[in-house]
Amino acid sequence: MQVCEASFGLQATPKVVAVITGAASGIGRGLAERFTAEGMKVVLADVEEEPLAKLAADLKAKGAAVLTVRTDVSNATEVENLAERTLDAFGAVHILCNNAGVVCSRPVWEHSLADWEWVLGVNLWGVIHGIRAFVPRMLAQGDACHIVNTASILGLVGGSGEGIYKVSKHGVVVLSETLADELAQKGANIQVHVLCPGWVRTGILESARNRPDALQNPAETEHPQEPIIGGSRNTRAEMEAGLSPAEVAEHVYNAIQNGTFYIHTHPEHKAWIRERMARILE
Ligand SMILES: NC(=O)c1ccc[n+]([C@@H]2O[C@H](COP(=O)([O-])OP(=O)(O)OC[C@H]3O[C@@H](n4cnc5c(N)ncnc54)[C@H](O)[C@@H]3O)[C@@H](O)[C@H]2O)c1
Repeated sequence: MQVCEASFGLQATPKVVAVITGAASGIGRGLAERFTAEGMKVVLADVEEEPLAKLAADLKAKGAAVLTVRTDVSNATEVENLAERTLDAFGAVHILCNNAGVVCSRPVWEHSLADWEWVLGVNLWGVIHGIRAFVPRMLAQGDACHIVNTASILGLVGGSGEGIYKVSKHGVVVLSETLADELAQKGANIQVHVLCPGWVRTGILESARNRPDALQNPAETEHPQEPIIGGSRNTRAEMEAGLSPAEVAEHVYNAIQNGTFYIHTHPEHKAWIRERMARILE
């Protein structure tokens, strides 16, 4: 993997414009709070309009410059509109956090086509649409820019459980690696980061709240199961013991400042990555 030698530290943060998808809740909300605390302008994108408006009002009350754009990241036209609205409102974009994500769980062979379309649509196509809409604009702009793609520790390991989610997050990791190398080869002033957290206390276990009508399963096939990470079935308790979104946002902010590509928030999970790599090499 190539390392870009240019300096990407964001010195004058009040001039920085950050776009965050999945901003209304959890990690996205944490990023919005962290970035505005630095004086950055933020563009908040999500499908959940009420919490999005509430967050915008909270941030504006603290003096932040905020734009909200209702965006379904699985829809290329809506992400293109997000990029246009960002440039229209603030004239530039410096940080893109492709963060929106959902999960649904059952054995891989039991998943409906709708399950695959929904989860890959948000988690993988959402990032693809973000890259296609924003990278050309960042390149034309020429300023130092950062793209933070939210994957997961499940984008770095195998094992049972979370099949579609893992496919999507492995896709996000390799897409980020490829993007980073290609931008470095081009000498572009854009740095890429991939966020790979373990459990974070968010609304992710309630992902079905945002599942579109067109991609619902028939009622009789709906057997909701909670995600399993690292083989544990006690997912809710594990999530409650996870990091806060604010802690994750701090990791992201530091990675942007320090030029870190892989953002690990749970160092204890590195053993799982080593174990998988050892199995592959054996
Ligand atoms: N919570 C965890 O333990 C954890 C761990 C690793 C990775 N992640 C990843 O972090 C990211 C953020 O999730 P979170 O944990 O904060 O969950 P969350 O449910 O609190 O937030 C996700 C946000 O994405 C939004 N969203 C859903 N579908 C969307 C769509 N089609 N278009 C735009 N926005 C949409 C939701 O409305 C919500 O506001 C996801 O990519 C998730 O996979 C979470």
